[in-house]
Amino acid sequence: MSRRTVIRGGLVITASDEIHADVLIEDGRIAALAASGTPAAEAFGAEHVIDATGKYVIPGGVDAHTHMELPFGGTFASDTFETGTRAAAWGGTTTIVDFAVQSVGRTLREGLDTWHAKAEGNCAIDYAFHMIVSDVNDETLKEMDLLVEEGVTSFKQFMAYPGVFYSDDGQILRAMQRSAENGGLIMMHAENGIAIDVLVEQALARGETDPRHHGEVRKALLEAEATHRAIRLAQVAGAPLYVVHVSAMEAVAELARARDEGRPVFGETCPQYLFLSTDNLAEPGFEGAKYVCSTPLRPREHQARLWQGLRTNDLQVVSTDHCPFCFTGQKELGRGDFSKIPNGLPGVENRMDLLHQAVVDGHISRRRWIEIACATPARMFGMYPKKGTITPGADADVVVYDPHAEQVMSAETHHMNVDYSAYEGKRTTGRVETVLSRGVPVIDRREYTGRAGHGVWTPRSTCQYLD
Ligand code: URP
Ligand code: ZN
Ligand code: ZN
Ligand code: ZN
Repeated sequence: MSRRTVIRGGLVITASDEIHADVLIEDGRIAALAASGTPAAEAFGAEHVIDATGKYVIPGGVDAHTHMELPFGGTFASDTFETGTRAAAWGGTTTIVDFAVQSVGRTLREGLDTWHAKAEGNCAIDYAFHMIVSDVNDETLKEMDLLVEEGVTSFKQFMAYPGVFYSDDGQILRAMQRSAENGGLIMMHAENGIAIDVLVEQALARGETDPRHHGEVRKALLEAEATHRAIRLAQVAGAPLYVVHVSAMEAVAELARARDEGRPVFGETCPQYLFLSTDNLAEPGFEGAKYVCSTPLRPREHQARLWQGLRTNDLQVVSTDHCPFCFTGQKELGRGDFSKIPNGLPGVENRMDLLHQAVVDGHISRRRWIEIACATPARMFGMYPKKGTITPGADADVVVYDPHAEQVMSAETHHMNVDYSAYEGKRTTGRVETVLSRGVPVIDRREYTGRAGHGVWTPRSTCQYLD
């Protein structure tokens, strides 16, 4: 039996258009759009009608960078796939791409199987995987081809974290050469981890143990240097490159230069770099530990360059890098030694709202909001137009968004499984009202109606983004 829903009277916003239209959904997909009030729209018959008058109707968010249950620094990121995807839905995100991890000495397959086991049957929304490649060798290079064929089409490498996830330049070049052949996209954590480790050791020897020193040793120049090196290695390999969690203005400059040369080089930033700064890392009483992530938060003056990059398309995507650790018992592991603070911030629930606030504040347009948060991540990672837009045939992942509702972000009210909010007390305008995942209400007028196991794994094609 077909299930039909119509969303009436809202302003439908995609990366390319804004139209007052009614949206007909049938069997979990967008069936048709018609201008509101026209005979075509009035002919849409449905059992279920959602009134979106005065609201926005937007594609569900695509968060291309999350770490549910990531093992890191002797502990695990505190959101499971169940709690993390539920929180994502509350925040208007209907697809996440999480990072499966290859441990050193293990195969990619083992890592991927482990992540499938964590996620399957537990997710409220759809999910896909990137693969972290920690151990480049002849076998893993062959495995990359197989993963691309089965829908895991992007691979993260680290120029940071020696001894854990780190790859040297030769390993990076080999993986890039492979991706140039098999169509995979290399995602780079661009920080010079070898140099950073020297600076960490020197800082600790001087007795500089507070969280703010995390930001001081992980220098912007060492992000820019690694970004430059990754760009040139990709150029030598003839491969495209996607740089994750860009925070330094000097790194944006490297991306902009490469793009001006016409290279297929792309950049992602995250809300924490747009809204938070080293001021947070310097909060007294070890509070700064809440803001320890890598790349680190930067001085405030970097933010303007990131916003500019988002407007000029030198940065294409905003993802969260959601990697929550509780303050109590987890961030506290680094009291007396900032290098032992687990790296990562919560944010999967906050991204769509923070970026809407950026619309309110005049940093970006409404269509750019949808482009950087929904459409481009879907295209970049081979899920478009199934995900990331509202068009006939697309999955009916749709959010009814109230642009006038006011909210205050807080750990008291959020749904992420973490005991603090990085945005505690922040007032924003705009709020998710209803969320459909493949036509099924997951949030219905601010009530959770979803279930663990509704979300399914989404195999992806290769990168569809060449702008
Ligand atoms: O601090 C961060 N970003 N933690 C997650 C791991 C990573 O490097 O993305
Ligand atoms: Zn209107
Ligand atoms: Zn990273
Ligand atoms: Zn990450």
